[in-house]
Amino acid sequence: MCGIVGYIGKNDCYPILIKGLHRLEYRGYDSAGIAIVHNNIINLYKSRGKVSELEKLCESKCTEGTLGIAHTRWATHGEPNDTNAHPHISQDSNIAIVHNGTIENYSVLKEALKEHGCEFQTETDTEVLVQLIEYIKDTNKCSLQSAVIEALSQVIGAYAIAVIDKNTPDTIIAARKSSPLVIGIGDDETFIASDATPFIEYTNQVVYLNDDEIAIVKRGEPLKVVKSNNEPSEIDIQTLKLSVSQLEKGGYPHFMLKEIFEQPETLGDCLRGRIVDGHIQLSGVTDNKDVFLNVNRIIIVACGTSWHAGLIGKRLIQDFARIPVEVEYASEFRYSNPVITDKDIVIAISQSGETADTLAAIQLAKQRGAFVYGVCNVVGSSIARATDSGTYIHVGPEIGVASTKAFTGQVTVLTMLATALGELRGTVDKDIVKKVAAALYRLPDLITQTLQLNESIEKLARTFTYCHNFLYLGRGYNYPSALEGALKLKEISYIHAEGYPAAEMKHGPIALIDKELPTVFIAPNDVMHEKIVSNIQQVKARGGSVISVITKGDKEIAELSDHVMAIPEVPECLSPVVASIPLQLLAYHIAVVKGCNVDMPRNLAKSVTVE
Ligand code: F6R
Repeated sequence: MCGIVGYIGKNDCYPILIKGLHRLEYRGYDSAGIAIVHNNIINLYKSRGKVSELEKLCESKCTEGTLGIAHTRWATHGEPNDTNAHPHISQDSNIAIVHNGTIENYSVLKEALKEHGCEFQTETDTEVLVQLIEYIKDTNKCSLQSAVIEALSQVIGAYAIAVIDKNTPDTIIAARKSSPLVIGIGDDETFIASDATPFIEYTNQVVYLNDDEIAIVKRGEPLKVVKSNNEPSEIDIQTLKLSVSQLEKGGYPHFMLKEIFEQPETLGDCLRGRIVDGHIQLSGVTDNKDVFLNVNRIIIVACGTSWHAGLIGKRLIQDFARIPVEVEYASEFRYSNPVITDKDIVIAISQSGETADTLAAIQLAKQRGAFVYGVCNVVGSSIARATDSGTYIHVGPEIGVASTKAFTGQVTVLTMLATALGELRGTVDKDIVKKVAAALYRLPDLITQTLQLNESIEKLARTFTYCHNFLYLGRGYNYPSALEGALKLKEISYIHAEGYPAAEMKHGPIALIDKELPTVFIAPNDVMHEKIVSNIQQVKARGGSVISVITKGDKEIAELSDHVMAIPEVPECLSPVVASIPLQLLAYHIAVVKGCNVDMPRNLAKSVTVE
């Protein structure tokens, strides 16, 4: 979703800002823009479409200057066009702003400003904010800092902003509420961005702004951060572990393929130091033993792929730790007036750590007394900081919009969490712990073996590229795998795909079965094997074509199916991780043959920071 970059320092800011915008492209956007202060003028350039369009536009323009802000916009208020793109500039062209989030009371503020003579050029909520800042600055004859603070006190909504003023060309004011903003502190230069990717080659020293904090970034002066009442805030400079190579494709045609192939390594990182002498050790569990021993119920909140991981987490935690678990879409949970007690634990799962609905669900759960545990990837993200404790999945930056390595990391962490809780509560057999720990240890190797399916899946994909619909069916641990397989296909190939519990098929979806509709069965060797065999027979009996994910050597399902993707033998609880690999590859190759933009599918954003 929208991305912010800002720079103030000794160097020309244009190349830094443009490169930064390219780094933020993965978040999803539909227009881009840049504003640079030079000779007390704000030069503003904006363009619909890709950052490369903006670059073309800027070729013949003045881009000099050492202070600037830039933005990638994912439209919320007003269609994606040049005018609605950010930055937005105030009526007198004095102040420019970039903004992520939404100003909910923008129409009330707009009407009031109109009465004071303000005219508006765009349909956006952001223009209202910049006009308000200018109006306050002029009326109160105050500094930019005071005007921003006053304007934000009148705003209802979510925001991360960076504001510049042509009359104070040595200052950027930045602020956040429910939308991420990070400041990079370099050598005589400071960066502002939605995440650290735009400036990682210049500095790894970062400050994460907290909600309701305002940063005053002045050339040649140390960073100052204040709260909304203008009281100074403490500045916590952190050192980031992120390398530029993690943000590049490394020879792969797409980030998604790179990320699929990285999984042996990322799962190795996820597991590192957490399996000790055949036991699982998670500091989030050992530090909160009493909470986990006294819990009555766990509620998992998440969205999209992370919600699918949550469904697997439910099975795992119920099986190993014998705690009742509910799984909720964060967007539904937050408005459902849920019954929560201080004996509940809410587990929030989020790759980006910035998903607005998940963040709101956490806030609600905390208000109602629950202990909140996070399963996040992005270190220092809003969700990671909002939770009481948690476990990072440590799979490195995920750039492809379709989540792959984050999903397997999430399920791996949930497997470890369930096993650790089972041991803590004495609800899991010692032999099972040993078996799961041993299988987790072998997981990177099992994924490497599974990735050998790539070539055959690439061929298989060509057969199915022109289908309009797909059905994905699984049972038990692999019912969520079916949902996730279907989601992967639909989001990157735009082929309609539905996931169902295989036995539910006969209650409706079976009507769809004909030779035009391929059904993907996730059918490894597990306790549901015989049941799923009969589900496959039901599809075959109606002329449907069947692609099955099976355990190597399973002749029975191989003979029934038209195509198989065979994965190595693995304990049932880990089969969703291994089975997800062929499903990711199938979706990827079908989308590539269709010529789709795999890494940046239409309409989708990597980090969903609006409701
Ligand atoms: C699908 C996908 C999305 C995300 C969802 C939640 O491939 O990536 O469905 O899973 O938007 O995002 P996070 O995990 O960042 O909270």
